[in-house]
Amino acid sequence: MAYGQFEQFIRNMSRVMGAVNTKLQRDLTLRTRVARRFSMVETAQFLGVDTTYLTRISGEEPSFPAGERRGRERTFSPSEIMLIRALIGSNKAARKPYLHWRRPGEPVKVVTFGAQKGGTGKSLTAAHFAQYINLNYGLRVGVIDADPQATVSLYFADEKLPLFQHDTPTLADFMGVDDPATVSLETPDPETLNSVWQPTPWPGVRLIPGGANIQNGDISLFFMSQKAKVPVYGVLRNAIRAWDAAYPPVTTVENIRGDNGEFDHAAYARALDETVDVIVIDQQPSLTLMQLNGLIAADSVVIPQTMKGFDLATLATYVSNIGEYLEFIMGFESDIEIGGGRHMVLPTIVQEQNDQDTDQILDLYRKAPREVMQVWYSRSDAIANAAEEYKSIYEYLPPKTRRASARAFMANANAVNDALVERIMPDLPTRGYAETFIRERWN
Ligand SMILES: Nc1ncnc2c1ncn2[C@@H]1O[C@H](COP(=O)(O)OP(=O)(O)OP(=O)(O)O)[C@@H](O)[C@H]1O
Ligand SMILES: [Mg+2]
Repeated sequence: MAYGQFEQFIRNMSRVMGAVNTKLQRDLTLRTRVARRFSMVETAQFLGVDTTYLTRISGEEPSFPAGERRGRERTFSPSEIMLIRALIGSNKAARKPYLHWRRPGEPVKVVTFGAQKGGTGKSLTAAHFAQYINLNYGLRVGVIDADPQATVSLYFADEKLPLFQHDTPTLADFMGVDDPATVSLETPDPETLNSVWQPTPWPGVRLIPGGANIQNGDISLFFMSQKAKVPVYGVLRNAIRAWDAAYPPVTTVENIRGDNGEFDHAAYARALDETVDVIVIDQQPSLTLMQLNGLIAADSVVIPQTMKGFDLATLATYVSNIGEYLEFIMGFESDIEIGGGRHMVLPTIVQEQNDQDTDQILDLYRKAPREVMQVWYSRSDAIANAAEEYKSIYEYLPPKTRRASARAFMANANAVNDALVERIMPDLPTRGYAETFIRERWN
C-alpha cells in the first residue's frame, strides 16, 4: 500500500516538524538585521565624495547624524547614510546629484531576476542589487519575492516581519489571485495594493514577502484564463501600474529643505516612504504563470546563470520556452510592448581556478556580446558563512579569518552591480567597479 505509507510518512513528518525549532538561527539573524555599520571611508565611498569633504560637512551641517564613535572610528548605519545623502544632496551648493530619486512623472523601473536552474544565485544577486542601489544612489526599492521558498525575504526580514504566517499577504495578494475560489478579473484597489508592501530595516526599502500561496496564484490564473479571454500574463504588470499611479513620486530633492535652507526632517521621512524608484523581482527557478507575470512586468530581465554545460542546457530551455510564450502573447495582443530596457545573462558562482567556466563565458560572450555580461560572480567561500545567516555581503560582518575573502567578494558584488546599473539605469553615474573588473580579467 504505497499510498497509505506515504500518507503515514507525511503525517509523521508534519508532527515532527511542528515540534522542531526551525527558528533558532533565523531569530538571531532577524534580531540583528542590518546591525552592520559603515566607517567614514566606506560612507564616503557610497556617497562618491572624499572623506575630507564628508568630515567638513559633518562639522558644518547641524542635522548631520552623530553615528557611533568607538575610539577614533566613527560609523554609520544605512539609515544614517541615507540621511547624510539627503543632507548633502538637498544643499543648494551641491555640485552634483546625490539622491537619485525618480522625478514626478517618471514611471517605476522593474528589474526581474529569473532562471530555469535552481541555485544559480538569483536571490543573492537580487538582494545585492537592491542593497547596492540603496547604499550607492539612495534609491527607494521595492523587493518582490515571487518564490514560495521566500529566500530573498529572508535577506530583508527583521523580527517585525511576519514571514511564513498564513495571513501574511504575498505577491498573490498583490495580484489579486490569492484565492482560486474567488477569482476576480479586477486589479485590487490601490490601498489594498499598498498594504501588501512590508517595511524592512533598510531605509526606503520595502518588501512583498514570498510564501506558499504564490502557488495558489498559478491555480487562480489558470481558472481566470478558463473563465474569460483575459491576458493572464499581464496581471502583475497591471497591478504595478495601478499601484504606481496611486503612489507616484511627489517630493523632489529641492522640497526637503525649507526656503530658509533648513532641512525638513518630516518632508524627508515622508518622501522616503511615498513610493519606490525601482522594483526588484526575485523569481523561483521555473516558468509558471506567476513567474511569467514577473517577466512580462519587467523593463529589464537579468538571468543569473551558472556556466557548467548541463546548467547551460537549462538556459537553452528557459529562453526557448519564454520565446514560445512571447509568440503566444503577440498572437493575443499584437501591439503589446514588453521589456523596453536591456536584458542580460549574468554568469554566477564561476570557478576561476579551472578554465572551463571562464572559457564558457568567453565563448558565450563572443557569440552574444550584448546579451552576456563581461562581469560575473565568482564562487566565494565568504558568502557560504554569510548565507548560513541569510546575510548579504553588504550586511555580513566576517570573523577575522574571513575578512580578506569577504572584502574580495564585496568588491566582486560591487563590480557586478556597477555593470547592472550601467545597463539597467544608464542615466546613473557609474562607479568604475565594473571597468576595473574587466580590465583585470579580460587583458
Ligand atoms: N558566488 C557564490 N559563491 C558561493 N556560493 C554562492 C554564490 N552565490 C550564491 N551562492 C550560494 O548558492 C546558494 C544558492 O544561492 P541563491 O539562493 O541566491 O540561488 P537561487 O538561484 O536564488 O536559488 P533558487 O533557485 O533556489 O531560488 C546559496 O547557498 C548561496 O549562498
Ligand atoms: Mg532564489
